[in-house]
Amino acid sequence: MRVSLIGFMGTGKSIVGKLLAPELGVGYLDTDQLIEEREGRSIPEIFDREGEDYFRELETEVLTEILHNREHFVLSTGGGIVLASKNRRLLKSGTFPVLLEAAPTVIYNRIKGDQHRPLLNVEDPLQEIRQLLTVRHQYYHEFKYALDTGNRSPEEIVDLIQEKLKEEGLINEQ
Ligand code: S3P
Repeated sequence: MRVSLIGFMGTGKSIVGKLLAPELGVGYLDTDQLIEEREGRSIPEIFDREGEDYFRELETEVLTEILHNREHFVLSTGGGIVLASKNRRLLKSGTFPVLLEAAPTVIYNRIKGDQHRPLLNVEDPLQEIRQLLTVRHQYYHEFKYALDTGNRSPEEIVDLIQEKLKEEGLINEQ
């Protein structure tokens, strides 16, 4: 059982992932967390010192290693993981991908004041969210199973994902 959660920053990937993993009886993984552990420094520090390209390379390395080494997991991914075609291919072929979505204003309200996201550390974060979403839209939408988290609780999202996994025959009906 390998489920990946994909989507823009602030769409609820981590909170949903942490709830879903124990429901499925599998471990929870998070690409950002694994990158920080490997580097021994935070994401903002990595962006600041090494730049985004370096971070993107780490993202692909970490994803490749997870798929190589782990059999069962729920994986929360960084919002920009979809930018590399290799990552999109790996996620589609190696996991059951779930796209989480939310409107720009919902995202903005969830992440405002959070200093942990270097890409949104700009003068007009809402405008930046809109712009990044426009660029990434085509990549996110390569993932066909999508859930809007805007007016659903994390628990509701977890239930919907479990229903879908049953439908797909990936977990047993109870
Ligand atoms: C990024 C999203 C972040 C993190 C990094 C870049 C992005 O992860 O990987 O700041 O490009 O959208 P979350 O989506 O978990 O915030």
